[in-house]
Amino acid sequence: MGRIVYIHGDFVPEEEARIGLFDRGFLFGDAVYEVTAVIAGRMIDNDLHLDRLERSLGELGIALPLPRPDIEALQAELINRNLLTDGTVYLHVSRGEADRDFLYSQGMAPKLVGFTQTKTLTGTKAQREGITVDLADDPRWHRRDIKTAMLLGQVMAKQTARARGFDDVWLVEAGLVTEGASSTAHVITADGRILTRAASKATLPGCTQRALARLCAAEGLRIEERAFTPKEAQDAAEAFQTSASSLVMPVVKIGGRMIGDGRPGPMTRRLQSLYLEAAGVPA
Ligand code: PDD
Repeated sequence: MGRIVYIHGDFVPEEEARIGLFDRGFLFGDAVYEVTAVIAGRMIDNDLHLDRLERSLGELGIALPLPRPDIEALQAELINRNLLTDGTVYLHVSRGEADRDFLYSQGMAPKLVGFTQTKTLTGTKAQREGITVDLADDPRWHRRDIKTAMLLGQVMAKQTARARGFDDVWLVEAGLVTEGASSTAHVITADGRILTRAASKATLPGCTQRALARLCAAEGLRIEERAFTPKEAQDAAEAFQTSASSLVMPVVKIGGRMIGDGRPGPMTRRLQSLYLEAAGVPA
């Protein structure tokens, strides 16, 4: 694939990048990550992603591996060196390396790696026509507000949904939708209210959602922060999910039930445009 990646202070060809056998991210999933969208060579909502990276690290007692401006500079350098126009830039911080032991000592040297991925984020068939999502029990731990690299629950849920013929999956716990396996879930009621679950330990606070919420406030669009049931989602007028890798993505089918007429609705279209306009993407 020929990318240049960042690993522990160096920019190297991806074939040469190696992490240590005793890296706690590898052995315990003791690591956090961030994914920032890149459109036309520009990072989108990166301040929010770096805020969340700092928060995730803080919750786990892992030090910030580099000052924040240096992290931003290395993200920019990855984009430049790989001539990335559209895609994502990925950052991953593990607690560091030590002989295998559940307990860790304080003050370990965290390890930072980063790489880019090319991906068309705008104007795709999925963006135009929407995606289908399955519904599944949320299999994850109870600190989903931390963006940990411990992702097997999401991997299994997405793989099962795909095998069942869906594009993605929304997770359900105690009769309420928590979030998408790698996105924030939203529905729009018949009277135009956008329902989004309030921030808590049950879900990851989405950066795309936060940015969109600011845009909605400026437009006088109402977001009601509350959890909704799978049935409310299936009965909704419109549905969509947000993430750095899918931006504002229309959802046209939930667990076998078509949403509206099975096409992205007008509010979702408006939110897509608002978000892309703010990201500087020409209509
Ligand atoms: N995932 N919820 C979960 C569980 C996620 O994994 C993500 C993003 C989101 C949306 O967050 P944001 O809008 O900040 O991207 C919500 C990324 C894209 C990933 O794991 O690849």
